Amino acid sequence: MKRLTAPAIQRRKKDGATEKPIVMLTAYTARMAQILDPHCDMLLVGDSLGQVIYGLPSTVPVTLEMMCAHGAAVVRGSYHSVVVIDMPFGSYEASPQQAFESASHILKETGAAAVKLEGGEAMAETVAFLTARGIPVVGHVGLTPQAVNALGGYAARGRSDAEAEKIVGDAKALDQAGVFAIVIEGVVEPIAIAATKAVGAPTIGIGASAQCDGQVLVTEDMLGLFERTPRFVKTYGTMAETIDETVKQYAAEVSDRSFPTEAQTYQPKS
Ligand code: KIV
Ligand code: NA
Repeated sequence: MKRLTAPAIQRRKKDGATEKPIVMLTAYTARMAQILDPHCDMLLVGDSLGQVIYGLPSTVPVTLEMMCAHGAAVVRGSYHSVVVIDMPFGSYEASPQQAFESASHILKETGAAAVKLEGGEAMAETVAFLTARGIPVVGHVGLTPQAVNALGGYAARGRSDAEAEKIVGDAKALDQAGVFAIVIEGVVEPIAIAATKAVGAPTIGIGASAQCDGQVLVTEDMLGLFERTPRFVKTYGTMAETIDETVKQYAAEVSDRSFPTEAQTYQPKS
């Protein structure tokens, strides 16, 4: 199967409508990427790996090295989806030049085709700089977790008129700057719909609206593997329970010496 491209994702939205919504999930490892890949259009190597994989308190401490290591693994494990890699906090905000250096490093190290960065109007110049130099960019507006220290938490955005206006304005600015898709996270539904209608690029919702042009979730959240379940997560699986039960059985069999059995044991040639 030939790998999808950023322009192909962008073209899925025609005349303001997306017939076939874009399916996106996060992936941090090669094996998980392999399992998700046939079912997805895009795999996001999200900086959510900070909490999910590394036990960090937020995405703020995530480094370029972490993103490159996991990004390369996901590219190696996938054949079909567009792999998008989050630019970590501190690697792109200072200037378009800093962003280009970080983004080109990410693409060279991982073989991925695109990066994602957080922020709207303030990042528009940077997005234009990257896209003009051959780097496809996904935008991210609404609740932007890298700004948790400034936002004061992870509450949904767009409840006040000023906030709502800013979110739609941010999406428009990114669209004009040339992003090929926009993640809309943690935004009240009418504003997610307004932003979706206001832009030519497909919008990918997470805690946004079914009217977005696609959806993304953190895979560990939807599998029931990570310990948090924000309102916007539908848990399709109970992986943590499955692992707990499976490991309980293993521990019991080690304890009573019923594992390993003959089938798992080597004997000398007779
Ligand atoms: O890091 C991440 O997983 C993300 C998604 C939640 C959109 O940015
Ligand atoms: Na992210």
